[in-house]
Amino acid sequence: MKITLSVIKADVGGYVGHSESHPDVLAKAREGLAKAKQSGLLIDYHVTKCGDDLQLIMTHQHGEENEKIHKLAWDTFVEGTEVAKSLKLYGAGQDLLSDAFSGNIKGMGPGVAEMEFEERKSEPVIIFMADKTSSGAWNMPLYKMFADPFNTIGLVIAPNMHVGFTFEVHDVKEHKKITLNAPEEIYDLLIFIGAPSRYAVKAVYSRETSDIAAVSSTQRLSLIAGRYVGKDDPVCIVRSQGTFPAVGEVLEPFALPHLVEGWMRGSHHGPFMPVAIPDSIPSRFDGPPRVTAAGFQIADGRLVGPRDMFADLSFDRARQQANEIAEYMRRHGPFEPHRLPLEEMEYTTMPQVAKKLEGRFSDLK
Ligand code: 13P
Ligand code: 13P
Ligand code: MG
Ligand code: MG
Repeated sequence: MKITLSVIKADVGGYVGHSESHPDVLAKAREGLAKAKQSGLLIDYHVTKCGDDLQLIMTHQHGEENEKIHKLAWDTFVEGTEVAKSLKLYGAGQDLLSDAFSGNIKGMGPGVAEMEFEERKSEPVIIFMADKTSSGAWNMPLYKMFADPFNTIGLVIAPNMHVGFTFEVHDVKEHKKITLNAPEEIYDLLIFIGAPSRYAVKAVYSRETSDIAAVSSTQRLSLIAGRYVGKDDPVCIVRSQGTFPAVGEVLEPFALPHLVEGWMRGSHHGPFMPVAIPDSIPSRFDGPPRVTAAGFQIADGRLVGPRDMFADLSFDRARQQANEIAEYMRRHGPFEPHRLPLEEMEYTTMPQVAKKLEGRFSDLK
């Protein structure tokens, strides 16, 4: 049975500030998707949040980039925005960059990760969701899951994973893509994806079966809007077990709270803290950036779950380490590398200040 799993998300208003989603907004979204399930458009759905981002997880049989599914998501975000406006939530409708839906939600602000696949005998999937970071945040974890044998020992010892995986990498600035094979091209792969503000892993495929293994949302809000409107707060779907990494291998990269961009005003680096879904309430300096993981078994399109995968004691150390890194980074105040480099900052007073002080600059001898 061919199933499409669509995860579409948007920030339609924060409660309080940018820290959390309001329950009434989630309730409204559940109402809309319940109707769509009743009508047969969706097989199943799950509505959740990561910080101030509303997450619509949907299964159906209409394929990727389907107009009806995208419109359903768009309408749900518009209705959520109405609720957000009535409560005067912060940044109501923040990620809806267009006034009217025109066939495909891509490029309109919300983040999209979708994959169509033949459902296996058992189909475990993990949906990662992030707040206060940008789309390249999945690069390091995806590399570790699918190309690093010190993370995924299955790459070494499982015969059906031993040939490796193919990475589809997008240049988000030049709108180009390239596919690279791991393990033999990992040095070429890393020169690109080690620069996540420009190159993002869009998808990963099994080289054993050509099956889709992972897909992420890669849209950069600031590049669409041409100004700062909030962070991308991306999502990523990963299939697990069988010819794919085991669930534990999929989660393991997040035991290291690696540095990502996007904290506070979209303009700072901070540690990516793995948390249970209710703990995605980034409040210290609007952060530190959060990642949550919802695990499902898909059964004839039904979403059996979620299991809140980071609600596990074994991630306590990563959280503690993230708090220590957060403290260390915070001490840098307005200095790089806590503050993003000039060209990556989402907003800046540099043009005004430089203009004001223009006359006071003089040439060096
Ligand atoms: P089981 O032997 O319990 O199925 O576990 C296999 C596995 O992949 C664990 O990582
Ligand atoms: P969001 O992108 O999550 O709305 O955060 C914006 C921000 O600037 C927080 O400081
Ligand atoms: Mg927000
Ligand atoms: Mg957000």
